[in-house]
Amino acid sequence: MKLIKDFDLHGQRVLIRVDFNVPLDSQGKIDDDSRIRAVLPTLQYAIDKGAKLIVASHLGRPGGEVVPSFSLSPVADQLGRLMGKAIDMAPDCVGPEVESLTSRMNSGEIVLLENLRFHREEQKNDDQFGRALGKLCDLYVNDAFAVSHRTNASVVAVTKHVPDKAAGILLEKELAWFKKAMIEPQRPLVAVVGGAKVSSKLAALENMLKHVDKIIIGGAMANTFLKSFGFGVGKSKIEEDQVKIAGEVYRRSMEKGIHFYTPVDVVVARRFEPGADNRAVPVQEIPEDWMAMDIGPATATLYAEALSDAGTILWNGPMGVFEMDAFSRGTFSISRAIAASQALTIVGGGDTGSAVHKTGDARQISYISTGGGAFLSLMEGKTLPAVAALEEDTSQAAGG
Ligand code: 3PG
Repeated sequence: MKLIKDFDLHGQRVLIRVDFNVPLDSQGKIDDDSRIRAVLPTLQYAIDKGAKLIVASHLGRPGGEVVPSFSLSPVADQLGRLMGKAIDMAPDCVGPEVESLTSRMNSGEIVLLENLRFHREEQKNDDQFGRALGKLCDLYVNDAFAVSHRTNASVVAVTKHVPDKAAGILLEKELAWFKKAMIEPQRPLVAVVGGAKVSSKLAALENMLKHVDKIIIGGAMANTFLKSFGFGVGKSKIEEDQVKIAGEVYRRSMEKGIHFYTPVDVVVARRFEPGADNRAVPVQEIPEDWMAMDIGPATATLYAEALSDAGTILWNGPMGVFEMDAFSRGTFSISRAIAASQALTIVGGGDTGSAVHKTGDARQISYISTGGGAFLSLMEGKTLPAVAALEEDTSQAAGG
């Protein structure tokens, strides 16, 4: 895979695909600009080298239609502030007007294209749409790790229609950190896996069994494991159809000699509400009409101890309903234990990233991935389609 640093960018039209899919509040303001900040090194590098920078992204899921609330315009403003530079907002991402705008650019200028997903063709990986994007540049750069698990035109089809292609600094960094953690880890390698559903993490758990020394389970998915061990879980969220599979994952991890941790106590509540009555109980004593909302204090201590000798920690998914104050302690205590660890620590997934930002632990984490689904795909052992497209030799097809 070629890297942006392998090219002479001076005077070149460089199309950089980034992931500016940032959370917006009810006023349409950017809630968290980490994804914008994460690509600044690549953008600044290209500008310093005299490129004409054409930046492309999606925002939200407008479903192939022009939805003004999903315009990238607020992102252009924020990017301009962060770079100390005027950003030209294009009216669209393809077509004659955009071609004319980008052909008149000078070195060091930046144009932000309008939301790629205002065109249905983007998510269909449409070849003509990829060609229309490719027309805009002399070099295509993918720095959009967080969308690289999607077979979309701006990360896959486009690569067949550009004179040359490369990975940006963020994409390179994301892949390198993941490799360091999973492929060449300092042991023991511990995976901390949480979140609501076993079903969405099953493929990742299966793949983890090939690599890790310990697995620590939290979040509502732990309830499904507890049920598979025969505990009564009251009204807790579980996936009935995953109970057997969860038991199977546990059995296989035992066979492999992996230390497998599930909660020994949980914080239960009467209702799924912030102010609901709640208390910590051993998992043997979950009342019939209560539900587990978080790991309990004994579990938090146990998990911190299990993490204490780790060489590498990979964390994806919260330990409980951490958005509600009363049920945030488990997630936050794991965040603190991971931050305090001497291990190489990698955190992936939007919720998990926001938990370590909330606790103020972010600076003590070795690497926080910008990817949610993309990070999970890597945990599943998959090759990201956009990365495969970058690696593929398409020099014969280029421009065709
Ligand atoms: C993300 O936020 O995970 C990426 O931007 C991909 O967005 P999507 O799930 O809407 O494809």
